[in-house]
Amino acid sequence: MIELASVAEIRAWSRAQRRAGRRVGCVPTMGCLHEGHLRLVDRAREVADVVALSIFVNPLQFGPEEDLARYPRDLPRDRAAAERRGVDCLFVPSVEQMYPRPARVTVDPGALADHLCGPRRPGHFAGVLTVVAKLFHVIEPDVAVFGRKDAQQAQLVRRMAADLSFPVEIDVAPTVREPDGLAMSSRNVYLSPAERRAAATIPQALQAGHAAFQAGARRAAEILQAVTATLARAPALRPEYVEVVDPESLTPIDPVEAGTLLALAVRAGTTRLIDNVTLGNGLRGDPTLDG
Ligand code: PAJ
Repeated sequence: MIELASVAEIRAWSRAQRRAGRRVGCVPTMGCLHEGHLRLVDRAREVADVVALSIFVNPLQFGPEEDLARYPRDLPRDRAAAERRGVDCLFVPSVEQMYPRPARVTVDPGALADHLCGPRRPGHFAGVLTVVAKLFHVIEPDVAVFGRKDAQQAQLVRRMAADLSFPVEIDVAPTVREPDGLAMSSRNVYLSPAERRAAATIPQALQAGHAAFQAGARRAAEILQAVTATLARAPALRPEYVEVVDPESLTPIDPVEAGTLLALAVRAGTTRLIDNVTLGNGLRGDPTLDG
């Protein structure tokens, strides 16, 4: 595995790969790698010949009250994990490399940020899309892999690539979960033991929404009620939103149908956790919690 820190170096690396006839896959991350990230690397290996993994905690996507300063970082551990998993190129740029000057021109997420996390994190998705656009221009991947755990982000990246004619394929891989169903997240390290136990209620709540759908519920309110009633069993969790939206437009949908995205954000102490399922699928796609 080679490790590069400058835009010029990774661009040269990627171009050399493509000249040699290899398809370049890329996996953008903010580090503190867990099995969810590493499964994206596996997926990238399946659909590309060489894999670049980027680690960059992007200041542009954090609000003033958010966790930029305390975001978990562990480069030595990440380096070892990436190498073990077969990453070919680790790209770890500094803030100065990515933003030699403050970004003035950014990517507007438009109406896809009007629901779910968008209104709760003003500027977040503009920050995400801007750094992903930059990474695409810097790495010039043939394919980039994102996780369904961040469903709104994945859909925004898909639409940015399509609407702005980026010559890159976007691949979205299933959510990887802990044995009790909690979606893996770098932010799970913030949870106290009691909060961590309460957080297991999140996948149960999503599964309750899916079960209501399977039992015939089609009104949005019925699905949302099943979710919120389950969440209420864990008083340590404070729901921020629970919504059912069309998976393409990310706008609220009523009645719901198979394929509708059921997504939520909750707070456990100071930690904000998000998760989602597709109605009709439930937590399927996960090796431990099929169905
Ligand atoms: P980060 O939170 O580090 O996530 C990097 C990628 O890993 C994202 O595509 C995310 O959806 C995926 N991921 C995280 N947890 C996952 C899980 N449990 N199962 C499957 N995939 C998972 O998302 C970001 O970083 C940033 O916003 C980024 C896209 C890198 C832009 O800065």
